[in-house]
Amino acid sequence: MEISRLQRRRILLGVTGSIAAYKSAELIRRLRQAGAEVQVVMTPAAARFVTPLTLQALSGRPVRRDLFDVAAEAAMGHIELARWADWILIAPASADFLARLRIGRADDLLATLCLASEAPVILVPAMNRAMWRHPATRDNVAVLEGRGVEIWGPASGAQACGEEGPGRMLEPAEIVGRLQALGKAPLLGGVKVMITAGPTREAVDPVRFLSNRSSGRMGYALAQAAREAGAEVTLVSGPVSLEPPSGVEVIRVESAQQMYRQVMARVGRCDIFIGAAAVADYTPIRPAVAKLKKDQARITLELVRTPDILAAVAAASPRPFTVGFAAETERLHEYARAKLDRKRLDMIAANRVGPGRGFETEDNALWVLWPGGERDLGRASKRELARRLIELISERYGQESRAENSG
Ligand code: C5P
Repeated sequence: MEISRLQRRRILLGVTGSIAAYKSAELIRRLRQAGAEVQVVMTPAAARFVTPLTLQALSGRPVRRDLFDVAAEAAMGHIELARWADWILIAPASADFLARLRIGRADDLLATLCLASEAPVILVPAMNRAMWRHPATRDNVAVLEGRGVEIWGPASGAQACGEEGPGRMLEPAEIVGRLQALGKAPLLGGVKVMITAGPTREAVDPVRFLSNRSSGRMGYALAQAAREAGAEVTLVSGPVSLEPPSGVEVIRVESAQQMYRQVMARVGRCDIFIGAAAVADYTPIRPAVAKLKKDQARITLELVRTPDILAAVAAASPRPFTVGFAAETERLHEYARAKLDRKRLDMIAANRVGPGRGFETEDNALWVLWPGGERDLGRASKRELARRLIELISERYGQESRAENSG
């Protein structure tokens, strides 16, 4: 039997005001049967066609309706909900909803989620044939398609209003079939990935520390991309001001020593390790117990090397597929290749850092090497680069584990 590609996929199902809303009940049942998690969000108009209680019972989750519902927001805020979704599927999508989406309104919970989410949006329109053919709707559909929104259907045939023509919502079975075709098997389904991210802080005294300019964005983007690829992700993070991606286990640490301890406690249980943290190389030998006073013209801070987490992971037995980063201001290729060999890594992602490059920026450029190969991932946003790197890692990881199994 073929495994459902919707297994554990998170579908945010938007239901808007159309008589076809009664078909959403059947759609939810089929999605759940296919293994998907379904969170229903209804517009106020939808709730006049079908009761939230019905959709709640079928989806197994409280239906969300109100942007200002204090209790629901406390359980899972709308931004969190927007991040949770792998797909936003709106079925039925009314003419009014198409219009609101086109102009980017955020006047109810569902429209707000569509604006706030980066997940792909699929619309399954249902409306009277004249409404569908109206130039305003035609225009809205063209603009939305131009933005990459998928529009499925409508089908032609008898309409609830007694007319014949285009405007019928696609049947639930057909919608689920199309979603199955869309959902490629997750690249890292069930694979355990541990990622370090952010800077570390090395205490000088109770109020001061040594740190660096790492924002943690690359590591957090990798955690999200790995999660999206189906992995079970643990993120060991130094102090950063980023929201962790949903569905990821986060372990917060401050110092290199703490990061080392947390990573080594879990290394035996992970398949892939990605060291994206900018770990301090040195730490004050003995942090002062009391705040240092400025009563001397000159002081000396004695530093000692921190443990190299990445090298320790690569030396562990059994060891995960180990990926490091090389941030260099000069001789990038030479230093990166040397680091790959010295730390016995499976892969290293090299980027050039310096003023306006790498740290604290949105954009990055990565060049990746492994024993016997290399690939330029180009320049892009950290989010996009993270996706490309996770794809490459899963490719190499797949090859290595196949080689091990046959060898
Ligand atoms: O040797 P260098 O610090 O340049 O290597 C960078 C890589 O090593 C990064 O992947 C970083 O996360 C990792 N690293 C580490 N522990 C250290 C120093 C660096 O895991 N103490």
